[in-house]
Amino acid sequence: MTGTTLPGSIPSVTLNTGATMPQVGFGVFQVPDAETHAAVATALEAGYRSIDTATVYGNEAGVGSAIKESGIARDDLFVTTKLWNSDQGREEPLAAIDRSLELLGLDAVDLYLIHWPAPGRGAYQAAWQALEEIHASGRAKAIGVSNFLPEHLDALTALGGTVPAVNQIELHPALQQRDAVARNQALGIVTEAWSPLAQAAVLTDPAVTSIAERLGRTPAQVVLRWHLQHGRVVIPKSVTPSRIKENLDVAGFELTDADLVSIDALESDGRIGPHPNELDG
Ligand SMILES: NC(=O)c1ccc[n+]([C@@H]2O[C@H](COP(=O)([O-])OP(=O)(O)OC[C@H]3O[C@@H](n4cnc5c(N)ncnc54)[C@H](OP(=O)(O)O)[C@@H]3O)[C@@H](O)[C@H]2O)c1
Repeated sequence: MTGTTLPGSIPSVTLNTGATMPQVGFGVFQVPDAETHAAVATALEAGYRSIDTATVYGNEAGVGSAIKESGIARDDLFVTTKLWNSDQGREEPLAAIDRSLELLGLDAVDLYLIHWPAPGRGAYQAAWQALEEIHASGRAKAIGVSNFLPEHLDALTALGGTVPAVNQIELHPALQQRDAVARNQALGIVTEAWSPLAQAAVLTDPAVTSIAERLGRTPAQVVLRWHLQHGRVVIPKSVTPSRIKENLDVAGFELTDADLVSIDALESDGRIGPHPNELDG
């Protein structure tokens, strides 16, 4: 599904809607709303055109004000937000998306995701039908899911409606979720990696630092390059301007097959966040 290269040489993938999505975006989890405007402004200035936020991050207003101030044409941006668990159900998402759009100052998001399956609530299938309605209304140009395991995807596809465009999952060298990635691929769903740098924990691993030294790149650039060459979308987060720029500068070099294999070998079931079946709150 790897597609064309966008201006500024950010590669892109093509979604099942036909839209293109930048393969490198900017994540704002754990960035306080008051700091989000500055971080997103720095990212947009550096050349990012895709921003990943969520209702529960509490910083959609900061994302929206930075977008507005940037003056960048709406069609040149790709904005993702997510439905929080307590808003799951057949009706609740219809109001939740309007609250998000109001905070973001947008008429539509490019991608609206169900944040977690929250299976204990028994409401994600109904929420998916609400997202289909939101998609049909034009308020989300594409719809998808996050933290969905194959069993949750099966429950959605059993409804016989829209196939999610994206599944955003925890994915980094220490947790590669190969079964989930394979199911995404089989269904034509783009895999998007959250915590792509394992919140910096993998950046001191000798397998990564040795490649970085050989290529004259940073460990973060090597790990992001590993994701891109596996065809995944990444959304690294940073509030540090030099790192924000560094994380986007990943187009001008290639890892060898041997490099990919040595990073693949770092799988250690090293989950950072909750297991998808254990977060219902
Ligand atoms: N769907 C979900 O359930 C879910 C869950 C978690 C995250 N996400 C999304 O994924 C995005 C990224 O995940 P994340 O924020 O958890 O982790 P991450 O992007 O893997 O790592 C962020 C951490 O790494 C540091 N860092 C970033 N670039 C660096 C570099 N070049 N060199 C050294 N350190 C660097 C950052 O520090 P500084 O900021 O101090 O520079 C920050 O502490 C989030 O912002 C969010 O959009 C989604």
